[in-house]
Amino acid sequence: MSWHSSITEAELLAKGVAGVEIDGLRIALYALDGEVFATGNICTHAFALLSEGHVEGGCVECPLHQGLFDIRTGKAQGAPVTKDLATYPAKVEDGLVWVDTEPAAAAGGEAPAAAAAARRSDSRRLVIAGAGQAGAETARAARAEGFGGEIVLIGAERHPPYERPPLSKDLLLGRTTLAEAHVFDSGEAERLGIALRLGTAVTAIDREARRVTLGDGTELGYDLLVLATGAGARRLSLPGAEDRTVHYLRDAADAERLGPALRAATQVAVIGGGFIGLEIASAARALGKKVTVIEAQDRLLKRLLPSEAGEFLAWVAGQNDVALYLGTAIAGVSPEGVTLADGRLIEADLILAGIGASPNDALAREAGLPLGGCRGGCRAPGPAAGRGRCGRAAPRQKDGWRAAAPSAS
Ligand SMILES: Cc1cc2nc3c(=O)[nH]c(=O)nc-3n(C[C@H](O)[C@H](O)[C@H](O)COP(=O)(O)OP(=O)(O)OC[C@H]3O[C@@H](n4cnc5c(N)ncnc54)[C@H](O)[C@@H]3O)c2cc1C
Ligand code: FES
Repeated sequence: MSWHSSITEAELLAKGVAGVEIDGLRIALYALDGEVFATGNICTHAFALLSEGHVEGGCVECPLHQGLFDIRTGKAQGAPVTKDLATYPAKVEDGLVWVDTEPAAAAGGEAPAAAAAARRSDSRRLVIAGAGQAGAETARAARAEGFGGEIVLIGAERHPPYERPPLSKDLLLGRTTLAEAHVFDSGEAERLGIALRLGTAVTAIDREARRVTLGDGTELGYDLLVLATGAGARRLSLPGAEDRTVHYLRDAADAERLGPALRAATQVAVIGGGFIGLEIASAARALGKKVTVIEAQDRLLKRLLPSEAGEFLAWVAGQNDVALYLGTAIAGVSPEGVTLADGRLIEADLILAGIGASPNDALAREAGLPLGGCRGGCRAPGPAAGRGRCGRAAPRQKDGWRAAAPSAS
């Protein structure tokens, strides 16, 4: 036990949540239902202070990517956070909040010896096709739920599972690295007994024999199979698209090509005023490029956002000297740039198309699995679907990061 006094109870009651530093530890204090609680103050997803977050229904919401933690237990409540917070005993005495800096619970999960013993007694094999965020989080969640068998995570990309959002933001601007976006911490996959087979795709499924074939020709039996093959960038089928480079941004390899090309470019044409197109336009402006965004709809993000939000984004684009062509069809691309349907030429030495994503469903289709389609938003497993445990309605979405990261519970 190592009790330390911190702020006054009155100060905590006034704020509801407060960040303090005790013994070199950053701790968040909460006043909840007449009691005080203490957790680690740094979000387990990336660097953000939870004391700057929003407290509701017994949970704290991270201010950066809206990850949720249960204040009483430190438990991560769903994507994108999967690791629990340390919690510390806390009490009020003499009008002061006291914290015992010996953690009552810390992130880390099950005891390694017990986990290894459970693994030895389970002869099943879980194969996950697709080592994106959903695949990786599924593997992690299977372990957290006590699955003791072998887990093999197969990914077509050569990189370990990573989160895609930084690709169009900090990674593009050279402010972060792909390693910082990895889903697994260093050594975590080994610790959890998750075998990674990277740089090779699952090319076929034999459902009767319960076996998959990989791109390198090997075959692998399974007891359980999860398809987490995600989506690919929709491609342009316009005159000229085969004769000049049109960039897309879906994976790390795309980002590796786009980053240097963007730095070298002077005039950038972005086809598609969706999230990815606008994020890349923003990165290009940050690099001082002349940027034009061409959008077929008469409003930005028309299918996703209310008109006020679309109009606000158009205003922001204008404030940042982005030339915006709304309700504008394209006739083709050429070495000079993008030709609009009315014949005008948007000169560009770099063209990027951000025109949506299509599901990688060929594998499932060829295996004869029923594909239900996804009208009006898809549901994800875990608290990402329906109502989270903090009593807050979770959003319904199509290709979104929350949906790809099921809770480990
Ligand atoms: C640039 C960019 C920025 C984004 N920003 C945001 C954001 O800010 N907020 C947000 O909510 N969402 C964002 N998203 C969307 C989010 O990243 C996706 O919803 C998420 O990546 C989906 O995860 P997933 O694992 O289901 O699929 P994917 O990320 O598509 O991963 C699927 C993986 O499976 C692999 N694969 C496919 N077929 C096979 C096969 N046959 N065998 C083996 N492996 C296979 C693929 O190579 C891929 O690595 C962004 C997406 C991109 C591209
Ligand atoms: S930093 Fe907290 S959810 Fe990402």
